[in-house]
Amino acid sequence: MAQKNRPYRGYAIVMLVSAGAAALATALLVNIFTRKEEARKPFVRLVEVGEDDTDPAKWGVNWPRQYDSYQLTALATRTRFGGHGGSEALPEEKIERDPWLKRMFAGYAFSIDYRDRRGHAYMLDDQELTKRLTKPQTGSCLHCHASVMPVYRKLGEGDAQAGFEKTYAMSYQDLNKVVHEMGHAHPVSCVDCHDPQTMALRVTRPGFINAMHVLAAGDAPLPHLPSVERWRKTDREKPYDPNALASRTEMRSFVCGQCHVEYYCSSKMPLEYPWSKGLRAEQIEAHWNQTKFPDGERFYDYKHAESGAEILKAQHPEFELWSQGIHARSGVSCADCHMPYQRDGATKVSDHWVRSPMLNLNRACQTCHHFPEEEIKSRVEVIQDRNFQLMQRAGKALMDQLDAIAEAKKRGVTAEKLAPALELQRQAQWRLDFIAAENSMGFHAPQEAAKVLAEATDLARQGEIAARKAAAP
Ligand code: HEC
Ligand code: HEC
Ligand code: HEC
Ligand code: HEC
Ligand code: HEC
Repeated sequence: MAQKNRPYRGYAIVMLVSAGAAALATALLVNIFTRKEEARKPFVRLVEVGEDDTDPAKWGVNWPRQYDSYQLTALATRTRFGGHGGSEALPEEKIERDPWLKRMFAGYAFSIDYRDRRGHAYMLDDQELTKRLTKPQTGSCLHCHASVMPVYRKLGEGDAQAGFEKTYAMSYQDLNKVVHEMGHAHPVSCVDCHDPQTMALRVTRPGFINAMHVLAAGDAPLPHLPSVERWRKTDREKPYDPNALASRTEMRSFVCGQCHVEYYCSSKMPLEYPWSKGLRAEQIEAHWNQTKFPDGERFYDYKHAESGAEILKAQHPEFELWSQGIHARSGVSCADCHMPYQRDGATKVSDHWVRSPMLNLNRACQTCHHFPEEEIKSRVEVIQDRNFQLMQRAGKALMDQLDAIAEAKKRGVTAEKLAPALELQRQAQWRLDFIAAENSMGFHAPQEAAKVLAEATDLARQGEIAARKAAAP
């Protein structure tokens, strides 16, 4: 019996095992399927969010992983050139690292207080606290420091662009008050980069959208932005619209380009990004040189307190410098390095702790560069070190130029005779500041940065010679 039964028992075991295996396989398949579904639609909506929901905590109910990492932008980070110091006190002053900065900015609000940047969580606080606000500032400042879109829509009676155009004439304090009263006093929030219905990436900032219209309509080659090149070949009936035309890869940089750019912001005219002739330092300079204030005067940011030169001030042109580098050219976006994927089960989550990739080399770089971390780190350091040294050279040249101008003035040389030297100061300082204000210490486009600094040094030395000539008997 036992013997006869054996095959049956064996069969039963096989049956059991295979049923078990099948069940397991099915379970696994179901599991893989749900995870794939999760990956495709990685959220269940527990609360509805809409255009006026600027409080990230509400979105956090639906997307806790992204919200959790977003909140980490409040943590202190520091690298050799990036990040910031303590969490309570305002960050260490940049001026102490590069003493020439202070003299370069003499006459500008920045010479009062120029601090290292911090994480996104602080963007509104730091703006409210800066001593630069002891001088009157415009409402335009809030464009990049608060979740301001509902305020624009209200001011424009539904039309954000119209509302935005009103804000430059308002004082910082007045607009800031409206932002607080309407409950939108949050730093950059989910709704600024995501469509609340689909969660797709989108850009919201009028300053960026207007600038992309102008950039696309110009003729500077933009090989790293294929959707713009494609639009240029159409009948151009409607202006280039990033939200409709840009690829996902492009959007992964555009969302950052809403704020990490060179701009002009004052109560004289609406906030403007200077991209009509392209994104390179000399193309932006050409844009500013042809810009006139409403009263017809030629454009400048401030008059240098020592020399009287009409100076162009550069602001964090990360998007512009990145555009000149090999990474942009290869389709590597800001988010690839600054918001790399984190595994979470079978889903990949974008790390919303936006920060220096030097703290994150493994996920930020090793996905593409198969070298040990130490090697990657040292490659970045070599680039940054060279850039830093070139910058000190340019700073020294500019200081020598200012000395020569001061000497000439002491000898009573007329403003008219000094004009060529002052013009050279404007050009030199623009280039030096472009790279100094950019926050990657040259990394985003090392060769472009070196070129711009070499020009700065040359122009400052030419200016020094011009001042000495003017002073010669
Ligand atoms: C290939 C990787 C890469 C890409 C792409 C990239 N960055 Fe960076 N970024 C870096 C590195 C490396 C640094 C230097 C960080 C440091 O010194 O700690 C940096 C520095 C910065 C900093 C200063 C960080 C800090 O902690 O102070 C900002 C801001 C920044 N990048 C913004 C951008 C923006 C905006 C874009 C897209 C337009 C971009 N980056 C594209 C790698 C990248
Ligand atoms: C609405 C404007 C805005 C947008 C959009 C924005 N940033 Fe920023 N970012 C800022 C401001 C303002 C600061 C400085 C905050 C401070 O110092 O208080 C900053 C700081 C940073 C820093 C420095 C962080 C640190 O810890 O020192 C990095 C890196 C950075 N941003 C990268 C990015 C990247 C990458 C994107 C796109 C994914 C992006 N930002 C989108 C405005 C913006
Ligand atoms: C086009 C977007 C944009 C506008 C407009 C803008 N900012 Fe910023 N701001 C940024 C970004 C991006 C950073 C972070 C990068 C950096 O610090 O270089 C920053 C950093 C800062 C910081 C911290 C670092 C520092 O420089 O001390 C302060 C304070 C600040 N801004 C104040 C202002 C004021 C005041 C205005 C109006 C005059 C203004 N911002 C307008 C984008 C903007
Ligand atoms: C400065 C822009 C920016 C802000 C602010 C921002 N995100 Fe994102 N988010 C991104 C980018 C870039 C991606 C990558 C999207 C892609 O590649 O398609 C992303 C992806 C996502 C995704 C898709 C899944 C993933 O992780 O890739 C979700 C969900 C998400 N974000 C939720 C949020 C929430 C919630 C907030 C607010 C707490 C937020 N985001 C704030 C830029 C932003
Ligand atoms: C999505 C892929 C990708 C990521 C992520 C990426 N890189 Fe690159 N990197 C490239 C490509 C592509 C090139 C161009 C050279 C080539 O084709 O191999 C390049 C070139 C470089 C170069 C040499 C060019 C130069 O500018 O001097 C350095 C250095 C570099 N990467 C460092 C980094 C660092 C550091 C990080 C992380 C912060 C990083 N990369 C992240 C793809 C990537």
